[in-house]
Amino acid sequence: MLRKSPRLAFLISLLSLLLRSSASAPAPHTLGAGSSLSVEDHARAFLVSPDATFSCGFLEAGNNAFSFSIWYTDAANKTAVWTANPDAAVNGRGSRISFRHDGGLALSGANGTTVWESKTSGAGLSVSLLDSGNLVISDPSSGGGGRTMWQSFDWPTDTLVPSQRLIKDTTLVTSQRLTKDTTLVSRYFYLYYDNDNVLRLRYDGPDISSIYWPDPYYGVFPNGRTTYNSSRIAVLDDTGVFLSSDNLRVVASDLGHPGVKRRLTIDPDGNLRIYSLDPSTGGWTVTWAAMAQACSAHGLCGRNAICVYQPSLRCLCVPGHEMVDRHDWRQGCRPMYSVPNCSQEAPPEQRFKFVEVPHTDFYGYDVGYNASSDTFEHCKKLCLEMCSCAAFSYRPFEGGGVCYLKGFLYNGYTSPNFNGNIYLKVPIGFDASAQSVSARSSEGLACNPDGPEIVQGTPDTFRASRNNAKWSYLFAFAGVLGVLDIIFIATSWWFLSSKQSIPSSLEAGYRMVTGQFRRFTYRELKDATGNFKEELGRGGSGVVYRGVLDKGKVVAVKKLTNVAGGDEEFWAEMTLIGRINHINLVRIWGFCSQGKHKLLVYEYVENESLDRHLFGTDRTLPWRERYRIALGTARGLAYLHHECLEWVIHCDVKPENILLTREFDAKIADFGLAKLSKRDGAAGDSMQLSHMRGTTGYMAPEWALNVPINAKVDVYSYGIVLLEMVMGCRVCDQTTAGGERLEMSQIAQALRQVVATGNVVPLVDGRLQGQFNPRQALEMVRISLSCMEDRSNRPTMDDVAKALTACDDEDEHPAYR
Ligand SMILES: *[C@@H]1O[C@H](CO)[C@@H](O)[C@H](O)[C@H]1NC(C)=O
Ligand SMILES: *[C@@H]1O[C@H](CO)[C@@H](O)[C@H](O)[C@H]1NC(C)=O
Ligand SMILES: *[C@@H]1O[C@H](CO)[C@@H](O)[C@H](O)[C@H]1NC(C)=O
Ligand SMILES: *[C@@H]1O[C@H](CO)[C@@H](O)[C@H](O)[C@H]1NC(C)=O
Ligand SMILES: *[C@@H]1O[C@H](CO)[C@@H](O)[C@H](O)[C@H]1NC(C)=O
Repeated sequence: MLRKSPRLAFLISLLSLLLRSSASAPAPHTLGAGSSLSVEDHARAFLVSPDATFSCGFLEAGNNAFSFSIWYTDAANKTAVWTANPDAAVNGRGSRISFRHDGGLALSGANGTTVWESKTSGAGLSVSLLDSGNLVISDPSSGGGGRTMWQSFDWPTDTLVPSQRLIKDTTLVTSQRLTKDTTLVSRYFYLYYDNDNVLRLRYDGPDISSIYWPDPYYGVFPNGRTTYNSSRIAVLDDTGVFLSSDNLRVVASDLGHPGVKRRLTIDPDGNLRIYSLDPSTGGWTVTWAAMAQACSAHGLCGRNAICVYQPSLRCLCVPGHEMVDRHDWRQGCRPMYSVPNCSQEAPPEQRFKFVEVPHTDFYGYDVGYNASSDTFEHCKKLCLEMCSCAAFSYRPFEGGGVCYLKGFLYNGYTSPNFNGNIYLKVPIGFDASAQSVSARSSEGLACNPDGPEIVQGTPDTFRASRNNAKWSYLFAFAGVLGVLDIIFIATSWWFLSSKQSIPSSLEAGYRMVTGQFRRFTYRELKDATGNFKEELGRGGSGVVYRGVLDKGKVVAVKKLTNVAGGDEEFWAEMTLIGRINHINLVRIWGFCSQGKHKLLVYEYVENESLDRHLFGTDRTLPWRERYRIALGTARGLAYLHHECLEWVIHCDVKPENILLTREFDAKIADFGLAKLSKRDGAAGDSMQLSHMRGTTGYMAPEWALNVPINAKVDVYSYGIVLLEMVMGCRVCDQTTAGGERLEMSQIAQALRQVVATGNVVPLVDGRLQGQFNPRQALEMVRISLSCMEDRSNRPTMDDVAKALTACDDEDEHPAYR
């Protein structure tokens, strides 16, 4: 028998006493002079607000680096809403926050130097954390409730919490901490009041500065803002409305939901978002975003680089260029050919040629332009003859086009729906395709999810111009080493100012080309469809007719039934949906709202819906197409959930709503309609869809529970569709040998078996006769299974799209059918 020595017993009791006291003592909400907390104690909060909504103390900000911050106590990942030292993290040893006897709150680093201080002083001061999230140093002895000497609300970092005001001279700035994913810049974005009283977002980088929100293509007033109110106050209120004195009014999608904890944050990708805390998981959900298109922020990729979205943000070098620093896109790309020399004798057309980059634009840095109805050849000639012209942008529209000559290539983005191309000026001897093909053989594409983050991949956006395959090669190898020459051209601020001299007629041209979304009259649509003659299909939300617009464009016109709300609500909803732009989503060209007539005008997609190809007895969809459809659908949904307007939940994902183009690219139809359908008036809560959508067999189990619906319902439905693509039949029709319908739990059990053994063959559609890629099939089953989990364990559509992309081998086995 072991006998405890009294000494040990004493130690143990002392230890347990210590443990108990530190665990049970709640953090105070007010402290007097002489209090401090060392970073080694970072598990403890320094202060907690009286109702415990907010805490403040040390937060881990990287490897052994800490910041002194305030956060929502209930957030699973303590996301800082304010930080004392956003740009100078302190060491995880020896650092300390102290409320000194002289009345100053100070953060000291490992070697004792003061990293940050409140610069307050006085006897008898106290520091408190209020329920609003405001950290306040006040003098309780001076009259009333005490005089405020300093408050964190006056020094916002990258976030506003409800009731915290952004005013003249305060700004929100992204912090300098680099994300692990160095493909994107994560600093230099500002939200601030400009000199004309307008609230703007600006990119301020090492070599350029550029305003990108509100949309600079339009003026202040077309963006719904005003310059007349000089009070310059913006505030997010408790119900989820963000109001700015320049007339900006935005509402979180969970507007009015009582007690929701929100924050407005400028994120490292330059977008401004409102987040709401999900109390069940402690995670954050985006309930508003300033920019529908992720690549709209400026400065995301450096010079000579293009931002693409596939399925998340990514930078690519323009043809013939490579990254300057493989780990930092802010450095941009440099040409792999000798720099053209302007002072040579030979005429320019014998020295230069142009390389097309489709659906792409670079914002700013125009050295010349031709306002209206210029021809392509003339635009090309202008660029050829101007030494400083590095590329030209040409956007055709009726009777001509708009021509911009670009001096530098910054703020580039590609969007499949952008109706214009960039033409790069390169030396005539530069043979991009030859170079790429030779380089190509040295770098294989592998199904490796752990591969390097910075992949010079083929953007799927360029698949739109499939016949122009050369560019795929180019993009795949733009980053290959082999520098021929390095150029350095100092940025000239002159170009920035020259942008402002563009005449308004030209701006109108921009608007005409970019604003393809329009409102139709009922008469127009009646004519276009020949009085609703040819029916294409019908579903829960209405009947679809074929129509032809006056310019011969074939469209699909949907007559909506069961639409809630008045004209104004419909209009507001449509302008949101109309901005949604992704290659895997059916494009909406416009709408009509006249009294009871509510119609939508869609792009016409030729090749019917997925169910006809998958379940039809007269045909078999080849494996390659199935995988591409799975990937496209995942990307489209990921875009809806995560990037475009993150509260767009489809709510009715099924093969009938996945349309196919002639090339078998997936286009999701019917998104954005969930919010339009009738709901109980009193609730006023858009996420609480009382009117159930969805289709039996594809509906997530939580539809039956009375819980708020989130994007995970789409993930579930997608999982079912994915499995159907593997099996070639409806999951809900599966029966046992005895003819009994299988429960979902039984199906999941079977799938687990398949994943465990890796034997996917028995599950795969027999009509394929073994012509499929087993690795991809197994991955699809694995993903499908994870999508059927409880909703908190389901992956996001972004995760799904990434996993499928990692296994995409379209270029690996070109001959595979
Ligand atoms: C203390 O550390 C900081 C960096 O953490 C450094 O910049 C500063 O020079 C150091 N001061 C002294 C006195 O060593
Ligand atoms: C200016 O904006 C403030 C804050 O939004 C508002 O209270 C005020 O009424 C506005 N003034 C005018 C003249 O519209
Ligand atoms: C917390 O952060 C980790 C790592 O970034 C992430 O995987 C996890 O999903 C986050 N948790 C919540 C609830 O957001
Ligand atoms: C450009 O060409 C001129 C004349 O051929 C030559 O003198 C000059 O050095 C060249 N400049 C560069 C930068 O190559
Ligand atoms: C603009 O283009 C038109 C048509 O090519 C041409 O006639 C006109 O001279 C151009 N204007 C300028 C300023 O270059």
